[in-house]
Amino acid sequence: MRISRFAAPLGAVVEDFDVRTLGAPGDQSDANNQDIWQTLNQAFCDHHVLVFPGQNLTPEAQMAFASHWGELVRHPYSGLDDYPDIIELKNFGKRVDVNQHWHSDMTYNSAPPKLTMLYALETPELGGATAFANQITAYEELSAGMRSLVDGLQAEHTAAGLAGLYKADPEQAPRAEHPVVRSHDESGKRALYICRAFTRKFINWSREESQSVLDYLYRHSTRMEYQARHQWRPGDLVMWDNRCVLHYAVHDHGDEPRTIHRLQVAGPIPA
Ligand SMILES: [Fe+2]
Repeated sequence: MRISRFAAPLGAVVEDFDVRTLGAPGDQSDANNQDIWQTLNQAFCDHHVLVFPGQNLTPEAQMAFASHWGELVRHPYSGLDDYPDIIELKNFGKRVDVNQHWHSDMTYNSAPPKLTMLYALETPELGGATAFANQITAYEELSAGMRSLVDGLQAEHTAAGLAGLYKADPEQAPRAEHPVVRSHDESGKRALYICRAFTRKFINWSREESQSVLDYLYRHSTRMEYQARHQWRPGDLVMWDNRCVLHYAVHDHGDEPRTIHRLQVAGPIPA
């Protein structure tokens, strides 16, 4: 196994490793596997996005590998009939694209998934990349004054915008309150935790007051200096850390097919 960084702000590629060799948690596999998992998890904490190229995975194998990080969680609005933990992302054209915005997944839940794992079955020749932005660096590079402001804030997150797209009732959409800056439960590092897609306002602030500060934070948190992109190839398995990374699905591939299997692993209540 070879682990190397692929961009300065975040991200590492794990080569010469078939993720199926790790088996499922609790398998009768050799004790080596715990060391391999520790190595991978350390790389995940250090680099926030891991890419495993050249995999050959069934839904069961993807779920087994992901389960080493914890329990799988279902998306509120979609899932495969036979594998409800897996969402099949397909290209339905730009107009119905629901992921072309900066966000951390499912922040409208009180305990959002700590990681999302995508496996590419079919990818465009060019385009259809996923962009990532490092929210630990984004937080660290705020001024001391702005840090002291955001450190004390909580924000409301809602899935109301998403509900409309899935023809669900926005009034019934899940919502949650989270700190605007969260501490990573494994590394202890602090990261900005807001996104244009789901954050509605700060708690005890009006929407208007919140909006001007949030607009600044949205611009700051996605500066080019914090970003890396992954250009997909079939067989790529990618996992990212929703606790400290924003992502954005770039739709620049027109109607070219792009089929990806997505799942999420449960995370702690942000604190
Ligand atoms: Fe997403």
